[in-house]
Amino acid sequence: MYQTITTSLENAICLITISRPEKLNALNKQVFSDLNAVLDEVYRNKEIRSAIITGSGPKAFVAGADISEFSDLTKEESMALAKAGQDTFFRIERSPKPIIACVNGFALGGGCELAMSCHFRIASENARFGQPEVNLGLVPGYGGTQRLVQLIGKGRAIELLISGNMIDAHTALQYGLVNQVVSQEELLTKAKSILELIHTKAPIAVAKCIESANAVFDENLDGYAVEVAAFGHCFNTKDRVEGTTAFLEKRKADFTGA
Ligand code: COA
Repeated sequence: MYQTITTSLENAICLITISRPEKLNALNKQVFSDLNAVLDEVYRNKEIRSAIITGSGPKAFVAGADISEFSDLTKEESMALAKAGQDTFFRIERSPKPIIACVNGFALGGGCELAMSCHFRIASENARFGQPEVNLGLVPGYGGTQRLVQLIGKGRAIELLISGNMIDAHTALQYGLVNQVVSQEELLTKAKSILELIHTKAPIAVAKCIESANAVFDENLDGYAVEVAAFGHCFNTKDRVEGTTAFLEKRKADFTGA
């Protein structure tokens, strides 16, 4: 079904692995096509409650956009490529179901941008992050200039963007680019255990938390108004009744997603 990714579904977690290890999982057109197809599935399939994105092999999460596809592009085509990549990454960022990145090695250029579009990131000890596009005479095109500033602040982001330097997993942790650093062996187990905890929460409330947090960075929205609307939306759900009743009855809530 997919040519460049593999997927599996276990405990309602869709594990998406980008699988071009011989090219360090670089994002070519086929990877984007496969990512869009699997995102359709994540959005649509009720059996999927969350997703993990990772890279195949021990070396790379994703080493960037596939540079071999850059050579013949016109200016217009390059802008269309960037816009299409941004649109895919917006779909990850705006997913109502949590999508987390398990960064298992190099996350460079488009790989760093992919990881940043996820709701949060867990890294293995060998992970490396960077936006090396200046080395190619380019800027990031898949949202990297925006999300790097959002996640680590302007000064650190501009330094990384204009030096092309890579940072290691512990520096990424210190910068707030990743939430946790674990060994490569523990990476997926750690991510799955976090997602399994999230699965015990009310799914609509989880989705509305993501939507409200995203609103901070949307200049067309008043985030506080989005939060009020989200609060009202959740208030009207069966899960809110169940959650508040369970608390008062001193028992564990049993959420149904309604
Ligand atoms: N696009 C296309 N191919 C890529 C790639 C990318 N972004 N990143 C790595 N590859 C390919 C290499 O060309 C090589 O292919 P080959 O064996 O057919 O020659 C293969 O993946 C292995 O990479 P290699 O460079 O040999 O591994 P390394 O361990 O020596 O170096 C990196 C690893 C990540 C430091 C290096 O591959 C690199 O700098 N990649 C490009 C990073 C980048 O600029 N990303 C931003 C793109 S916009």
